[in-house]
Amino acid sequence: MSDAKLFSPAVAGAIEMKNRVVMAPLTRNRAQPENDAPRDLNVEYYEQRADAGLIITEASQISPQGKGYAWTPGIYSDDQIEGWKKVTDAVHAKGGKIVIQLWHVGRISHPVLQPGGADPVAPSAIAADSKTFDGTQFVGTPKPRALDASEIPGIIEDYRTATVNARKAGFDGVEIHAANGYLIDQFLRDSSNKRDDAYGGSIENRTRFLKEVLDAVVGAWDGGHVGIRLSPFSNANDISDSNPQELFSQVVRLLNPYNLAYLHLVEGQTGGSREIPEGGDLGVLYALFNGARMANNGYDHDSAIEAVDSGAVDLVAFGRPFIANPDLVTRLKKNAALNELDRDTLYGGGAKGYTDYPTLEQASVAAE
Ligand SMILES: Cc1cc2nc3c(=O)[nH]c(=O)nc-3n(C[C@H](O)[C@H](O)[C@H](O)COP(=O)(O)O)c2cc1C
Repeated sequence: MSDAKLFSPAVAGAIEMKNRVVMAPLTRNRAQPENDAPRDLNVEYYEQRADAGLIITEASQISPQGKGYAWTPGIYSDDQIEGWKKVTDAVHAKGGKIVIQLWHVGRISHPVLQPGGADPVAPSAIAADSKTFDGTQFVGTPKPRALDASEIPGIIEDYRTATVNARKAGFDGVEIHAANGYLIDQFLRDSSNKRDDAYGGSIENRTRFLKEVLDAVVGAWDGGHVGIRLSPFSNANDISDSNPQELFSQVVRLLNPYNLAYLHLVEGQTGGSREIPEGGDLGVLYALFNGARMANNGYDHDSAIEAVDSGAVDLVAFGRPFIANPDLVTRLKKNAALNELDRDTLYGGGAKGYTDYPTLEQASVAAE
C-alpha cells in the first residue's frame, strides 16, 4: 500500500474528497434513448467507481440544443433530475463525491440531433472538421448557424437552470465544460469566433460568454461548488487559437474572483500527446489560479503520484483507466496491473464494456 499524497484527503472549495484520484468526464452514450435520462445501468456504473475521491460525470447537455451525440444524458428535465438523483444517492451511499459536467456542444452537432432538425449554433458560421454519432453512424459536423446576440441570454439561462437542477439532483457541485472545442471553447478561440460584436474580437470580448456563464452558474450555487475544465493546447474538435497562452492566462485571471473549487486542465492533446506547443506553459496557468488544481491526460501510477507529491497539482483525473478499472484507486494504491480498455464498447451499447470490467478481487476469484 502506498502512503503517497495522491491517496490522502483533499478539499476543493466546498468539496471534501477522501483521496485525490478523480474520475474524468467520460461520454458513454448509454442514457435512456426516449428522454436522455440516466437509467439503472448508469447508476451501477457510477456506483462501481465511487472509490474515486471525486467523480465528474460524463458531459450532460444543459438543453436540447446543447446536445451533440446520440444517447448522451441531459440535466434540463424532471426525468433527468430523477435519474441523476439515483446516481448521486448511490455514489454518496458508498462515500463518494460527484459533480456533473455541464455541456453545450455548439457546432459539434448535427440537425438530426437538434430540436426541429435545426442547424447547430455557434459563435460564427464556420464548420468544424469533426464528426458526431447520430445513433446510427458517424456523420460530419455541418456548418452551424451563427448565434444572434439576442439568443445568448437564453443559453446563459439554460446554464443557470442546469445548475439549479444539479442541486436538486443531489450533486456535490458542477463542472463547467469549457474544453475540447465545444461551445464555450468556440467563443474563446479566434479560429471559431469571428464575431464583430461584444462577444468577438479582443480576448476580453471572446471571454465574455464564459464570464456570463460563470455569473449564472456561481449565482445559482456558489464558487465553492463549481469547477471548470479547460484544454488550452488541445485541438480537439478542430479548435485552435493564435495565442493560447495569452488567451488562457486571461481566462484563468478572470476565474479567480469567483473563488471556484478547482481548475481542471487537459494537458496537451485530449487523449493524445502531452506535448505543449512552443510558448505554452501549463505551470504558469496553474500558478495564476487561486483554487485547487486538477491535472488530466495520460497519467499513470508513477506520474500521478509524482504530480501530487511534487506540488505541481492537487488532484489528478483519470479517464480511460477508470473506464476499464472500476477499482482504480485500489489498483493504484497496490501498483497493480490495470485491465485493458475495450475500444469497441466505448460509445453506446449496454453492460458489456461498461459495468462488466472486473475488480482485482473479482479477477483473482475468477483465476482460482
Ligand atoms: C470515451 C471517452 C469519452 C470522453 N468524454 C468526455 C466528456 O464527456 N467530457 C470531457 O471533458 N472529456 C471527455 N473525454 C476526455 C477525457 O475526459 C480525458 O480528457 C481523456 O481521456 C484523457 O485522459 P486519460 O488519458 O486519463 O484517458 C472523453 C474521453 C474518452 C476516451
